[in-house]
Amino acid sequence: MSTSIPGEPWSTGVARGADGAVTVGGVDVRAFADEHGTPAYVLDEADLRARARAYRRAFETAFAEIGAGVDVYYAGKAFLSVAVARWVHEEGLRVDTATGGELAVALRAGVPGADIGLHGNNKSDAEIARALDAGVGRIIVDSLVEIERVADAASVEHPAPVMVRVTTGVHAGGHEYISTAHEDQKFGLSIAVPTATSEHVVAGALSSSDAADSPAMRGLLAVLARPELRLLGIHSHIGSQILDPSGFEVAARAVLTLRAQLAERTGVLVDEVDLGGGYGIAYLPGEVALDPDRIAKDVAASVQATATDLGTPLPRFSIEPGRAIVGPAGLTLYTVGTVKPVRIDDGSVRTYVSVDGGMSDNIRPALYGAQYHAEVVGRLSTAETVLARVVGKHCESGDIVVHEVRLPADVRAGDLLAVAATGAYGRSMASNYNHVPRPPVVAVTDGSSRALVRRETEDDLLALDLG
Ligand code: LLP
Repeated sequence: MSTSIPGEPWSTGVARGADGAVTVGGVDVRAFADEHGTPAYVLDEADLRARARAYRRAFETAFAEIGAGVDVYYAGKAFLSVAVARWVHEEGLRVDTATGGELAVALRAGVPGADIGLHGNNKSDAEIARALDAGVGRIIVDSLVEIERVADAASVEHPAPVMVRVTTGVHAGGHEYISTAHEDQKFGLSIAVPTATSEHVVAGALSSSDAADSPAMRGLLAVLARPELRLLGIHSHIGSQILDPSGFEVAARAVLTLRAQLAERTGVLVDEVDLGGGYGIAYLPGEVALDPDRIAKDVAASVQATATDLGTPLPRFSIEPGRAIVGPAGLTLYTVGTVKPVRIDDGSVRTYVSVDGGMSDNIRPALYGAQYHAEVVGRLSTAETVLARVVGKHCESGDIVVHEVRLPADVRAGDLLAVAATGAYGRSMASNYNHVPRPPVVAVTDGSSRALVRRETEDDLLALDLG
């Protein structure tokens, strides 16, 4: 027998009942499957709300100690529905959107425009117009072209509040942490200065004359040059699923340095600095998530030290966690369809366990090689465990849900299988590959369940097909 329930990477509401079957938020998974079917995304509301509160409190407390304010924006790209936007807003978070679609959900939820931010490296004119109409609190501009585009859409009487997204050369994620002066990627404006002789500049260690010529500085000056824009501040997002927190401090130092350089050059000391999202979570038993209290304290201490060095007062800060709020709160419930032992190269046997979903409801294993953990949850098995691979029902061999996991040797058709920590970037990146309708998102709270997003049907898919 092997079970990691209760405990990470499962949401705090996951437990085993007296007969060994699992409950989530007080709801037995067997009753859940009878009512909602499988596959289904299960969202533990209390857990999600608690994580939202934990991030807000941790950062508010740590930054209050250094005399700075902080706002927490929930990054809706991880998963957004009307109910989730409401929950996080009720917990005192604002909402970060990356497209017109996400903006529409936040507005439908009744989140005031002032509490919404709009990101995106290629916002359409329609998206910009909608954001301005909704009175969003900030548009994060990503390029020189876009600065002019937003300015053209706004007016001197109603200037658009903008932050300039910069790249600090710090790029972190997964377990790697690399720092390069020029990031070969599409987001933001670099703080590094291109030179004719050398492309090599150490991020965060620029002299003010260097920074005067960086794309980031040019962006900030371009915003100040347009009276239709109000420059709120500087934005930096360094990556996702970050478990080594030092990158946040290096990036914060680079952004505060750029802010001081702008002030030196123009006399304008911007009010806000956003440090982005990226806080890593546990996907496997034994993995350790970033602790919001620890990281908030470390980042606060680091920005205070930097501000003292620079001789500038602290700005207001903001952060944008997505995965850390919704990821651990979610799991995916599947039903096992077939079990097939396959002899592999080293002579051992791998048990292929096929479930009723797959890469259409979780593309992350195929796309990033992401690791997940799964357990049989409809019963407690006392059988020995075997090396298993959980696969989906799609027409390709890369359709892997869990690469490697030990499951009870008696795993069989009809078993309910749960995959932990699928709340972030699961439903939000789901597809209809092979014309598989997307699963519902069902909230569980205090012993009851409620669909937040209903299951797609074949009729939904056929309705798009014009024949
Ligand atoms: N803010 C900005 C500007 C972002 O680009 C992102 C994520 C976040 C906040 C939230 O990051 P989080 O706290 O969730 O790590 N699809 C990938 C993740 C892509 C993240 C993109 N940006 C995955 O499934 O791992």
